[in-house]
Amino acid sequence: MLHVDGERLRADFDALGTIGATSAGGVDRRALGRAHLAARAWFLERAGAAGLKTEIDAAGNHSAVLPAPTEGAPRLLLGSHLDSVVDGGRYDGALGVVAALEALRSVRDAGLALPVALEAIDFTDEEGTLVGLLGSRALAGTLSAEMLASPRGGREALLAGLERGGIAESGLATAERDPRTLAGYLELHIEQGPVLERAGAQIGVVTGIAGSRSFRLCFGGDAAHAGTTPMDGRRDAGLAAARFAVAAHDRTVSAHSGCVATVGSIELEPGLFNVVPGRARVALEFRAPETARLDALEADLLALARAQGLPVEVEAVGDWKPCALDEGVRTAIADAAEALGLRAKELPSWAGHDAESLAAVTPSGMIFVPSRAGVSHAPGEHTAWEDCVNGANVLLGAALRLAQAHR
Ligand code: HGY
Ligand code: MN
Ligand code: MN
Repeated sequence: MLHVDGERLRADFDALGTIGATSAGGVDRRALGRAHLAARAWFLERAGAAGLKTEIDAAGNHSAVLPAPTEGAPRLLLGSHLDSVVDGGRYDGALGVVAALEALRSVRDAGLALPVALEAIDFTDEEGTLVGLLGSRALAGTLSAEMLASPRGGREALLAGLERGGIAESGLATAERDPRTLAGYLELHIEQGPVLERAGAQIGVVTGIAGSRSFRLCFGGDAAHAGTTPMDGRRDAGLAAARFAVAAHDRTVSAHSGCVATVGSIELEPGLFNVVPGRARVALEFRAPETARLDALEADLLALARAQGLPVEVEAVGDWKPCALDEGVRTAIADAAEALGLRAKELPSWAGHDAESLAAVTPSGMIFVPSRAGVSHAPGEHTAWEDCVNGANVLLGAALRLAQAHR
């Protein structure tokens, strides 16, 4: 059975981890920012050094390609993302990209002639610093004008990012692939939760991905003097936002068990000690495993926002539908894990991933490896190196199984 070269994989992973490294031990590689662009250049350099063809598509997705002996063979994509959240961890996305590159090198070194080409791909803006799943949605043809008009990171940041990345907004749609050119998609990713560690499982076979929605809320009160304005005469936007955050948490726990909701930021204006806040901008995100539960949560939380005594502007800035992952790909992953003697467990993903975009156009699946204490999106994010290598070997084994199915 073919294995990856763990040393070579480690060298890549460690080198990548120095790009955008933070003093806290994580990385800050916000989409299309300087560190992210440096990581993408590094990826192309490593792919070129391995003798692989490199490509950048109209959405800025970066790829290394191992062609098949047969001209025009479909491509099996193995990928993830090199962008991170602000002050993120070294494993989220990065592990999947370096493992994909290592899988291509391992197949090439073994001289295997596959009926499909293999493509290691790094998708643009997975994290939603700008839009969210920007590159994978463009490839799948599911990027809409609304997503670009009201992006989660704001229109200005999106345009500046596209400019830095040399990506023309008008050209994004041309990144769409004909599904007939795709043989499937596999993504290795850290679990970002505690389930595998608690279960003592080494590999996660992901069954599906929860849906998620993001809203920007703006509570409109009256800025006022913090000393001369009596407590009963205030229209305090900050108080309304704070009350909403508590109410949203409590209602989600009490009436929507099994779902999650997060107020990720509250920005008060003018944000001074001696001024009662006139405006409060709130970032609200919530997730559920089914669309009906997302709808119920949305209705409930937006009603709560409107019940805080002040007018509130509501802008939808993100909508990621729940998705199931392909049975055949899940079987290939489970079989690869079994062949390696690894303990595997099926589980859903509460984190969003590029796989949900690809699942719309080609059979897609995900392999999870355990996250220590379930920590992620933070510098303390960690996965034991042995688990990383196990995950890369399962990625390679599943890819070979899916490739054989195309004979
Ligand atoms: O937010 C998420 O679920 C993913 O990490 N982008
Ligand atoms: Mn990720
Ligand atoms: Mn992430």
